Amino acid sequence: SESCKKVYITTPIYYVNDIAHIGHAYTTIIADVLARYSRLVGYDTFFLTGTDEHGQKIAMAADKAGKSPKEFTDSFIDAYKDTWKEFEIDYSHFIRTTDEYHVKAIQQWLQKLIDKGDIYKSSYNGWYCTPCETFLSDKETEGAPEDKSQDGPACPSCSRGTQYIEEECYFFKLSKYQDRLLDFYKSHPDFIFPQERGNEVVSFVESGLKDLCMSRTTVKWGIPFPGDEQHVAYVWADALNNYITAIGYLQEGKQAEFEKWWPANVQVMGKDIVRFHAVIWPAFLMASDLPLPEHLLVHGWIKVGDQKMSKSLGNVMDPRFLYQEYGPDAVRYFLTTQMAITQDSPFSLQDLEGRINSDLANEMGNLLNRMVTLAKRGGLDLVSVPADWSEASLKLQADAQKMVKDVQDYLDTYSLHMAYAEVKRFVAAVNAYFHAQEPWKLVKSDPTKFAEVISATAHSLYVIGVMYWPVMPDKMQ
Ligand code: MSP
Repeated sequence: SESCKKVYITTPIYYVNDIAHIGHAYTTIIADVLARYSRLVGYDTFFLTGTDEHGQKIAMAADKAGKSPKEFTDSFIDAYKDTWKEFEIDYSHFIRTTDEYHVKAIQQWLQKLIDKGDIYKSSYNGWYCTPCETFLSDKETEGAPEDKSQDGPACPSCSRGTQYIEEECYFFKLSKYQDRLLDFYKSHPDFIFPQERGNEVVSFVESGLKDLCMSRTTVKWGIPFPGDEQHVAYVWADALNNYITAIGYLQEGKQAEFEKWWPANVQVMGKDIVRFHAVIWPAFLMASDLPLPEHLLVHGWIKVGDQKMSKSLGNVMDPRFLYQEYGPDAVRYFLTTQMAITQDSPFSLQDLEGRINSDLANEMGNLLNRMVTLAKRGGLDLVSVPADWSEASLKLQADAQKMVKDVQDYLDTYSLHMAYAEVKRFVAAVNAYFHAQEPWKLVKSDPTKFAEVISATAHSLYVIGVMYWPVMPDKMQ
């Protein structure tokens, strides 16, 4: 039956060269809201998050801190977990790519692809962006300097300088999967949300895929390549597979668990990493004879002015400050309901405070308080269901039912801000009802009618509480 359906939701795994920032919290909170909603509906739900710990970027950061890479990443894990706990992130499992089961499974997976002939040895030369851990395409390196010791063309994703690398490496036959990928996009138009992001992916693949470098010899911090320990796995080859190793892929005794959860129903990520997830990841899965995820949900960036909020730009907001200042629910509310998932959105404390004051305190909080205060004044301890509902109350009830349906429809297509705009609209409708009924007059003049108005208001607030629970689990409880 529908209620036995399983749902598997993932976040990207975060680079641990520092504590979590609000951009990471944004991705994770969106996924948590979806996971909570899924549990609320009654689906058997698995929610995965974790950390991406290998690669050049982490190795360099560790070096700068005077620590070994593992000591370095270890030092951030508790802080990550604490932050997620503070923000009520209810994950089912937290994967670290340094976990032994993951390392072993990746080595087996690489061997599988080598045996199959989808991974072969050759050599690579070209420009590399370390912050994004990305090889630039031919098109992206037009106008590169003659002198390869200089910084190369700016990275198209983060605009920073790139470095020339020339080394022996193992390649994955990405080009082999070009046509199958295009067929897949065509037959699954709802693979990527929002659809515009899908168009970008299709034109990228249509422009031609080159085989992907899967190993590095000049980087030491990574998973050793099976049978050739000079090489470590390219960090994205290691990282993307976390989504399957975390649920038991290639691990003894875990086949049933793996088959229960895979494929993922929705994988959440920011737009900066959609190409990895919509092109490379499906190709890896095709090469492994595994089904592809149902949906990728791609969100925009949190901005400050017209810049992406990012650590390297030094404009990041510390989630721990937001937690202490405003509490988790208000921040979750702001991030998931006030920012359109499809777009880049500015973040300011002023806007956050504005929403807390108007939506949460004035509209919802006040309504609840006034209702409770009046109920007490009228001696009502228990909200019973009256024998007769007035026309206005029945209208409110119909409105509640429509709201619940609309929220579900929007959430089925991951339009969080549209979904919760319906709840907000309903809060306004309950306010209007409450004021029009003037219960403060009825409390003396008509106790029966008074009880009915309080009951309708209380039931409406209950529905609001349930619908908002995935967003504000603490307050709505
Ligand atoms: N490690 C890779 C992902 C590997 S997944 C197999 C990575 N990590 S990351 O730490 O750089 O960022 C991960 C997520 O944080 C991305 O979804 C990214 O979009 C999100 N954000 C980082 N800064 C952001 C904003 N300023 N705004 C919104 N989200 C942003 O990429």
